[in-house]
Amino acid sequence: MVPAGTATGSVDWQALESAAREALKNAYAPYSKFAVGAAALTADGRIVSGCNVENASYGLTLCAECTMVGNLQMTGGGSLRAFYCVDAGGQVLMPCGRCRQLLYEFRAPDMQLMTTQGIKTMDQVLPDAFGPQHLEETR
Ligand code: THU
Repeated sequence: MVPAGTATGSVDWQALESAAREALKNAYAPYSKFAVGAAALTADGRIVSGCNVENASYGLTLCAECTMVGNLQMTGGGSLRAFYCVDAGGQVLMPCGRCRQLLYEFRAPDMQLMTTQGIKTMDQVLPDAFGPQHLEETR
């Protein structure tokens, strides 16, 4: 685990980019040949990362964000403050719609994402999100 910031301090985006590029090397993408690496800074200063893991049954593919969230849970849980995702060319990759929902579940209140248009908030990339609060409302 590499510390890349504190709960209230600034985010070391370069450290997140490096972690995402490192994670990318573990990608299992024999079908799409599109490797993805994702990394995030947790509220308590850890870096968690993940890569995509495909399957012969194509629809079962795990996006890099899925394995990253699994990594988050397996290394102490908590929430995500900052997120960075890259493709094999090292370019910033926008999380797919499903993964925006995954990230929303584990967001810290001020979560930021590196996007192709610069740094954005979770609300900007998933406006009017469905979340745990809606389950509470109907119970
Ligand atoms: N992929 C991700 O890992 N994350 C995303 O947010 C977008 C798509 C992966 C899934 C699949 O293995 C490959 O990229 C091509 O869709």
